[in-house]
This record gives sequence, C-alpha cells and structure tokens, in this order.
Amino acid sequence: MRRLLPDPAGDVDLRSAYAVPPGRQVRVNFASSVDGAVSVDGRSSGLSSDADRALFHLLRTMSDVVLVGAGTVRAENYVGARDGGNGPPPIAVVSRSLDLDPAARLFTETRVKPIVLTCGSAPANRRRQLESVADVVVAGEVDVDLRLGLGALAERGLARVICEGGPHLFGSLAAAGLVNELCLTVAPLLAGGTAGRIVAGLVSEVRDPMRLVHVLEDDGHLFLRYAVR
Ligand SMILES: NC(=O)c1ccc[n+]([C@@H]2O[C@H](COP(=O)([O-])OP(=O)(O)OC[C@H]3O[C@@H](n4cnc5c(N)ncnc54)[C@H](OP(=O)(O)O)[C@@H]3O)[C@@H](O)[C@H]2O)c1
Repeated sequence: MRRLLPDPAGDVDLRSAYAVPPGRQVRVNFASSVDGAVSVDGRSSGLSSDADRALFHLLRTMSDVVLVGAGTVRAENYVGARDGGNGPPPIAVVSRSLDLDPAARLFTETRVKPIVLTCGSAPANRRRQLESVADVVVAGEVDVDLRLGLGALAERGLARVICEGGPHLFGSLAAAGLVNELCLTVAPLLAGGTAGRIVAGLVSEVRDPMRLVHVLEDDGHLFLRYAVR
C-alpha cells in the first residue's frame, strides 16, 4: 500500500500508520463505493479487496474488542473471534431485539465467548437463551445506552474498540458523540442501486468536523483515516 497524503511514500508500514495512543477510544471501520453505497447486494464484500481485508484484520489485532450491530451480524453471518496474536479480540454485538440465533457461527465458531450488549426491554426468553453462549450485558432500558455499554466493555479491560458497523450502530455512536476515528475504504465502484450510506437512522444532523490523517492507496482503493476533531 502506498501513501498519497500527507507525505507520499511507497510500501507503508500499516501498523505504525494506524497506531493509536493507549486508553479508551472508538475507531469505526467502513467501506463505501465512490457514490456512497455501503453495500452491494446487501453485503459489504463487493466493496472489499485483498488490501482492505488485510487492513480489516490488522485493525482487529490492534483493538481489544470488535463492536458490531446485530443487523450486520445477521446480514454478513458473522463468524466469531478466531484470529489474533495474543488471543483474538472478542466480538460485542449490540441488539435491542436479541433476534440472534444461539446456533449461529458467531457463537459456535469462536475461540472467545462473544459479548451481547442489550437493553432492559429485550425479550427475556431470548436473553436467557443467549446467556448460555454469550456474556450478556444490559446497558440502558429502551435502547442500548452506548456510553454505558462502552463503560461495561472498559470494565472488562476492553478499552480500544474497533466498530465494524453497520450504519445504524454508527449513527447511534455518532449521535452520542462517542466516535474518535473513522477508517474509510473508498472502493473504485459506481454502485448505483438503493443501498444506504455509512450512517443511518439519524433524524438530526451531527456535523462532526473530521481531520484527515492520511490517504493510502492500493489497486484503486483509497484508505482514508479521519480523526474526529
Ligand atoms: N460497507 C461496510 O463497511 C459495512 C459495514 C457493516 C455493515 N454493512 C452493511 O450494512 C447493512 C446492515 O445495516 P444496519 O444498519 O441494519 O446494521 P447494524 O447497525 O449493524 O444493525 C442495526 C441493529 O443493531 C442494533 N442496534 C444498533 N444501535 C442500537 C442501539 N443504540 N440500541 C439497541 N440496538 C441497537 C439493533 O439490533 P436489533 O435489530 O437486533 O434490535 C439494530 O436493528 C448490511 O447490508 C451490511 O452488509 C456494511
């Protein structure tokens, strides 16, 4: 991967390019087409590339926990945490409905028990079912209070969060002012169609100014790293 900004360079060391200071932080990772589509055929794989997949995995290994919304888990049939040097980072799923199958790969194909962040209004029977396969954490009453949820993760020693979407979870995090950084892959594809943007579900505007940290490039894919100012 080569760097275009701030200073052009070939064959960038990704680990130092994506280094973060120690302590609590939420980094969000997304891919989008050039026209802003967040999926192709309902999935993100059509926006990815070998370099994007390598970065996706690197960002996981540089984090303590993977945070993901239940919609993405269902759409992408998420697999549990399996890779990672000193043990893979656990996956924490955010869900109000708890419409998650305890026999899904997320819970069965994993080396680390997943965490489910939910709220008090979630169906009690589904909660009981999931308690046998996951660490179920109740944070908030009607919705998941993400500030409380991130606090519960930090109490477990999981302070560096990589959020892998999807758009509704990103919207909830942005609305709560909890995002520190966005890593955005722009795929060289004009997607068309009806796919949404990387943020969804927000009625009010957020207008968070972002600072461009770097632009990397590989095979026409752009890798943008933004910090929230
Ligand atoms: N291009 C990319 O990089 C990328 C990345 C991720 C996903 N995607 C795509 O995005 C699509 C899925 O979008 P999505 O917006 O539905 O995904 P999502 O944000 O992963 O899931 C939404 C669900 O997460 C739960 N949730 C989010 N915030 C919550 C809160 N504050 N409190 C309680 N529950 C909360 C709810 O789960 P329940 O419904 O269980 O209550 C909600 O319905 C898929 O097509 C996927 O391929 C693309």
